[in-house]
Amino acid sequence: MHRLVLALALNLIAITSGGQIIDPSKTIVWGPGLFPEIVMRSRYFFLQLVDSNGNNITEVEEKNIDIKVVINSENSGGHSCRIWQQKLNCRDGSFIIRYRLYETCYNFHVIVTINNQTIPKAAIHAEGPIYEEECDCPKLSIHEWLHNSKCPSNYSQISNDLREFPQINFDKMRNKIIKEFSRPQSVSLCHYVIKKNKIYRKCYGDHTGFKVFSDSILLSLTRKLVVPDTEFFMNLGDWPLVGIKGTLYPIFSWCASEDTRDIVLPTYDITESSLENMGRVMLDMLSVQGNTRNPWKRKIEKIFWRGRDSRRERLKLIEISRRHPELFNVSITNFFFFRDEISKYGPGQQAISFFDFFDYKYQLNIDGTVAAYRLPYLLAGDSSVFKQESKYYEYFYHHLVPYEHYVPIKADLSDLVEKIQWAMNNDEETRKIARAGRELMRRVALPQDVFCYYVSLLKEWSERIENSVEVLEGMERVQQPENRCNCPISKDEL
Ligand SMILES: *[C@@H]1O[C@H](CO)[C@@H](O)[C@H](O)[C@H]1NC(C)=O
Ligand SMILES: *[C@@H]1O[C@H](CO)[C@@H](O)[C@H](O)[C@H]1NC(C)=O
Ligand SMILES: *[C@@H]1O[C@H](CO)[C@@H](O)[C@H](O)[C@H]1NC(C)=O
Ligand SMILES: *[C@@H]1O[C@H](CO)[C@@H](O)[C@H](O)[C@H]1NC(C)=O
Repeated sequence: MHRLVLALALNLIAITSGGQIIDPSKTIVWGPGLFPEIVMRSRYFFLQLVDSNGNNITEVEEKNIDIKVVINSENSGGHSCRIWQQKLNCRDGSFIIRYRLYETCYNFHVIVTINNQTIPKAAIHAEGPIYEEECDCPKLSIHEWLHNSKCPSNYSQISNDLREFPQINFDKMRNKIIKEFSRPQSVSLCHYVIKKNKIYRKCYGDHTGFKVFSDSILLSLTRKLVVPDTEFFMNLGDWPLVGIKGTLYPIFSWCASEDTRDIVLPTYDITESSLENMGRVMLDMLSVQGNTRNPWKRKIEKIFWRGRDSRRERLKLIEISRRHPELFNVSITNFFFFRDEISKYGPGQQAISFFDFFDYKYQLNIDGTVAAYRLPYLLAGDSSVFKQESKYYEYFYHHLVPYEHYVPIKADLSDLVEKIQWAMNNDEETRKIARAGRELMRRVALPQDVFCYYVSLLKEWSERIENSVEVLEGMERVQQPENRCNCPISKDEL
């Protein structure tokens, strides 16, 4: 009896700075990484700590808590499978566990313990084979993939964008599109065909380097599922292309605006970081949640901003900040567009790590050439975001509610100082905005959400195509990189 009481006491010993007692058995667990058959480079899941009364813990010091993740698995040769794992403390009572497979694994087991107590809901057992991202093994139909990945059944942004395209016949407009957007110095466009799950393209324009981003998401998807035959045009530039007047051409773009009619996709930036987290990319929607240093009360009460001089308002920000130095730590890191004004707005300061931005309570999102592609990362951090009103938007912006997920700022920044003062006088509300921003990003902008968006759009799109999809003259095959993976299906069957 005494022993039992003692054991319980030991298990419940972790106390947060707020005096709450952590009850590991109540931990809330969710995320696609719990289902290792969902193939991603970095598979991730979340832990939300809960106290003995069943309330979410909102602040936790690392020293009070010992989370261990043990992964056991074998490769095809019966040796220990090569896996890299990471634990990210989001400093709000939640943690992210992520792991990357470097080869196909079998007998895959994950056990998570908090202060030596196993979390049953975080236990993973799978016979395998569990494939690595690089494995070219499209085992699933698009419907199976969407179902297994638990993607939303519909997207209002996709429905809106495709409303004017109930059917598509490229035979009637393919050449018109190529002609209309034949402005090689300013427009870079790739014409893609996916047929029998193989990718072909022909690009137009002088600067088509960004095709690596559209290639890499399409290659990744076609390694995992059979994408229906389809055809589309991808704008590689930042500016949307299809004017509000004139012929409505279907063009996929990373960024959209209220005065254009492009079909919006996740930006190349968040696409790349979704594909390459635990790979080539350091800043991604998961790492940004686990690398901030200071809890809210230790953050500096100023607006922090760094960026290029890619829009006039960014210079104006420097001007405003000089009149109110106590409210700002802002600086231009790089002069390119307004190089002749460097003496007035410079000197350019060294860029600092994006993670360090969150030493400050208030973050600013000002457009660059188009929408600033950093917004999802800013929202996922643990500061509150001030967002300039803008006609530009990305695939997820329609979810954003002013004063719920961000503090709105007039396009000309004229109310910026006033809004900072409002935030300083309404600290609890501003903190709530910070939390809600992160929560929203966890629902709509994590890697799995980005993949779901692409696949859902490709599905909707391919269903609308009436012409027969053919590989056209001059198109180049986009090849899968070499991989050693042993996939049981024959690619010729597709
Ligand atoms: C606790 O956290 C989970 C996971 O983020 C969330 O779904 C739930 O709504 C939270 N509960 C409360 C009462 O805030
Ligand atoms: C957890 O278990 C290890 C060994 O089994 C032991 O050394 C350690 O003290 C335990 N920690 C806690 C917090 O109970
Ligand atoms: C879209 O999905 C929501 C829930 O996911 C559902 O309530 C709604 O009816 C769906 N709309 C359409 C048009 O299918
Ligand atoms: C502004 O921020 C940078 C980076 O955190 C810091 O090194 C610098 O001291 C800050 N400047 C002021 C005036 O606080």
